[in-house]
Amino acid sequence: MAIPVIDFSKLSGEERAKIMAQIANGCEEWGFFQLVNHGISEELLERVKRVASEYYKLEREEGFKTSAKVKMLNELVEKKSSDRLENVDWEDVFLLSDDNENEWPSKTAQFKETMKEYRTELKKLAEKLMEIMDENLGLPKGYIKRAFNGGEEDNAFFGTKVSHYPPCPNPEKVIGLRAHTDAGGVILLFQDDKVGGLQILKDGEWIDVQPLPNSIVINTGDQIEVLSNGRYKSVWHRVLAMPDGNRRSIASFYNPSLKATIYPAAELVEKAADREVNQESAYPKFVFGDYMSVYVQQKFLPKQPRFQAVKAL
Ligand SMILES: [Fe+2]
Repeated sequence: MAIPVIDFSKLSGEERAKIMAQIANGCEEWGFFQLVNHGISEELLERVKRVASEYYKLEREEGFKTSAKVKMLNELVEKKSSDRLENVDWEDVFLLSDDNENEWPSKTAQFKETMKEYRTELKKLAEKLMEIMDENLGLPKGYIKRAFNGGEEDNAFFGTKVSHYPPCPNPEKVIGLRAHTDAGGVILLFQDDKVGGLQILKDGEWIDVQPLPNSIVINTGDQIEVLSNGRYKSVWHRVLAMPDGNRRSIASFYNPSLKATIYPAAELVEKAADREVNQESAYPKFVFGDYMSVYVQQKFLPKQPRFQAVKAL
C-alpha cells in the first residue's frame, strides 16, 4: 500500500475534475498524498537539498554527536539494557520563520537566500492547496485562508522545519520522531530522495511514505480537521530511526495566526446535521493560541482530549 501520488500539473488541463477528485480522496481517505509536477523548479529543489545538507555538516553535526540523546543511547547500550530511549526523538531540527530571520543559519553559503526563495514558493503552493480544499469542501473561495489569517491580511504563521535524522547505531532503541498528528493547517514536506523512515497510520497499520525524488508530500493538521468538521482528519505519523543514511526532511506548514478563532465551517455543520450525523462529535470554537498551549503539552498523546482541554469560546 502506498499513499496517492497526484500529478499537479494536470489541474489546469482537461483532467481538472479528475485531479480535484484525487485531491479530495487524498484529504478524506488518507490525510497524506504526494504531489509531482507541482511547479517548484527542480533547479531550486536541488539547491535546497545542497544548502540543507551543507548546513547540517557545517553547523549541526558536531552538536548532534555530542548531544545528551547520543550520550543517553550510548549508556543504554553499554549497560546492555533492554530498555528503549523514551520521550526522545533521534532528530536534529531548526525552525525558520519570518519572525526569526536574523537567527537563520548564516555560515552556510547561500542558505538564507535559497530558503527564502523556497519558502515563498511553498507558501504559494500552500495557498493554492487551501483554495482547492475550499472548492472540494463546498466553501467560498478563500475561506480557509481567511480563517487562518484571522480576518487580517497575511497574518497566518508560515514555518519551515529543517530536520535531519542522522544514522542511528541502535534504531530498535529509539525513534526518529514520536507518533503525532500535526497541530496546524497544511503541511508541505520535501523529504529525502533515498532515506525513508516516515510512516503514517492507515486503518490501524503503519505504512511507509515512499521516497519519490523531488515530490512534495502534503498532509493536513488538526485545524483543517476542525474547520472541515471532521471531513479531513489529521493523520498520525512518525519517523523511524534508520541505521544507514542521514535523512533530510524539510517540512513547511501554513498554520493559523495564534489569534485566529477556529471552528467548524457553518456550511459543513449544517450538512452533517442533514445527514443526522451525531452532533456530539462536533469540535469546539477556540483561539488557535490556546490550542497550541495544550498541544505543546500533549503532542504525543491522543488527539481527542486536546479538543476537550482547549478553552472553548
Ligand atoms: Fe508531523
